[in-house]
Amino acid sequence: MKNLSKKIAIIEGDGIGPEIMSEAKKLIQLLIPEYELISVDLGGKAIDKYNNPFPVESQGKLKDVAAVLMSAIGAPQYDNLARELRPETGLLGLRKFLGAFANIRPAFVYPALADLSSLKSEIVSGVDLVVVRELTGGIYFGKPAMNDGTRALNTMVYEKYEIERIAKVAFEFAMKRGKRLCSVDKSNVLDVSQLWRDTVIKVSKAYPEVELSHMYVDNAAMQLVRNPKQFDVIVTSNLFGDILSDEASMLTGSIGLLPSASLGGEIGLYEPVHGSAPDIMGKGLANPIAMILSLSMMLRYSLDKEKEAQIIDKAVEEVVTEGFLTPDLGGKANTTEIGSAIYNKCEQSLLTPVY
Ligand SMILES: NC(=O)c1ccc[n+]([C@@H]2O[C@H](COP(=O)([O-])OP(=O)(O)OC[C@H]3O[C@@H](n4cnc5c(N)ncnc54)[C@H](O)[C@@H]3O)[C@@H](O)[C@H]2O)c1
Repeated sequence: MKNLSKKIAIIEGDGIGPEIMSEAKKLIQLLIPEYELISVDLGGKAIDKYNNPFPVESQGKLKDVAAVLMSAIGAPQYDNLARELRPETGLLGLRKFLGAFANIRPAFVYPALADLSSLKSEIVSGVDLVVVRELTGGIYFGKPAMNDGTRALNTMVYEKYEIERIAKVAFEFAMKRGKRLCSVDKSNVLDVSQLWRDTVIKVSKAYPEVELSHMYVDNAAMQLVRNPKQFDVIVTSNLFGDILSDEASMLTGSIGLLPSASLGGEIGLYEPVHGSAPDIMGKGLANPIAMILSLSMMLRYSLDKEKEAQIIDKAVEEVVTEGFLTPDLGGKANTTEIGSAIYNKCEQSLLTPVY
């Protein structure tokens, strides 16, 4: 059933979080003023207030929202806390709470920025891929897990239903894009990967239009830097997806450009790929584009506002193509200047009549 709430949960987060979220909030007021914003504490802010990175007070506020828009959490002062009190435990808890089992990370290279990649521009120019990462299962959650000081272990476990549902999400994305899906595993070594591969093949029968291929994770890591344009949609497990999606993000020149969505439950979670960047906090150096493109994904996938999402995507592309950039991309503009430039273009699009 469609989520009809007119509330959006906003997690301002730590470090540069409030600075970049401020630019996204201005766009929400411009493009979807009918939505009410509910502030929710997670990570550092929640630890300071409640001594808990994801307290029941925050959980209660999330029951009645259309989507969650989050910046990033974490700061050095929390690094030495016990694991259950750390900010990232709050984020893992939030994803579980929302039933967000599918992490969607697009990686695309704006032609104007192809020279900024650490790879040659002819290799990256035109890259447009999506990594669909399983997010709530696999080795990060498998039991038993222990470390007694002389021996440690974690367990990589997947149930068939967990693989089926992430495969379906990936096939659906492939259907809306280039109709090519590459499933990444390590089925030559791992039993859990063998089940992964068998299950993805079974799910593929319902999507005859999608061309399915399989790749071992070590080869995928290599192919992503050798010839990234060969990929359309990649689907993989939690651990492999964590690594490959960070690798894919680096093709694009700056982590400050990349949005993500975590889907699967009734309420979607949208956040930049990057962290809270405490090293540049309060200096106006943060690139707000990943945050703003996360908002665009929220409009598209949770609020059914495709037109507004396209207005944002177009505004961002125009701003970077004009060479108006933050320092992470070699420019001199600050966070607010980029946010305002995008805002002004969105405002113009709204005012321009469509014939
Ligand atoms: N999803 C999340 O909330 C999330 C993800 C990763 C890391 N973290 C947390 O963030 C904190 C910092 O982690 P980190 O330094 O490993 O990763 P990070 O992504 O915060 O920063 C890595 C580098 O990228 C730069 N950077 C990141 N975002 C940027 C932006 N928007 N504009 C310009 N430059 C940007 C930073 O200045 C830094 O040099 C830690 O506490 C970590 O636990 C949170």
